[in-house]
Amino acid sequence: STSKNNTMISYWTYFAKGLEYTLIITVISVFFGFLLGIILALMRISNAKILHTLAVMYIEFIRGTPLMVQVMFVYFGIGALIQSLPALAAGIIAVSLNSAAYVAEVIRSGIESIATGQTEAARSLGMNQKQTYRYVVIPQAIKNIWPALGNEFITLIKESSIVSVIGVGDLMYQTQLVQSATYKGVLPLFITMMIYFIVTFTLSKFLNYFEGKMKHEQ
Ligand code: ARG
Repeated sequence: STSKNNTMISYWTYFAKGLEYTLIITVISVFFGFLLGIILALMRISNAKILHTLAVMYIEFIRGTPLMVQVMFVYFGIGALIQSLPALAAGIIAVSLNSAAYVAEVIRSGIESIATGQTEAARSLGMNQKQTYRYVVIPQAIKNIWPALGNEFITLIKESSIVSVIGVGDLMYQTQLVQSATYKGVLPLFITMMIYFIVTFTLSKFLNYFEGKMKHEQ
């Protein structure tokens, strides 16, 4: 019937609001995840044993525990220390801390893949370690790192759906609201699946395009 078809259309603001939250959480978390990821990668590469060990422990621990548990731990754990930590803040903190561990490995492997061979060449040309990194290693490493960061962005659009368990109003949370309000289980999920897919697919095409452009400019 027509009323059935109109139901989902009349709930479009839920989906729109949810997507908005999902994108906000993703953008902020990719940003902080990248900053912390750089620090962790440099710590891990560093010759200082203590820094190296701390970075390895952090990266292994984050990658070895579920994001869902991390999100709940930050929300209830920090929430117990700081009274009434907003769920949105907890979600962003947890997703950022998680992303940093994965990004750190992306950056480390990006740097190490270049550093091994190119460092000797640069050093034999008389560059010091700082110059070698600044002019030889980093510019080449960035070309490897950039596409992987694009992938991380896409990953976080999908994985951030887990913040719905602490009540952050992201796309997945809004979907559950629409399910309860309409007594329909599958249709809201189907719409949400399509929204996630359209966003990630578009983004991946967009990133591939720029990756191709960067290759030609080398
Ligand atoms: N599904 C994974 C987990 O539960 C999260 C992976 C997050 N990945 C990332 N690249 N940030 O642990």
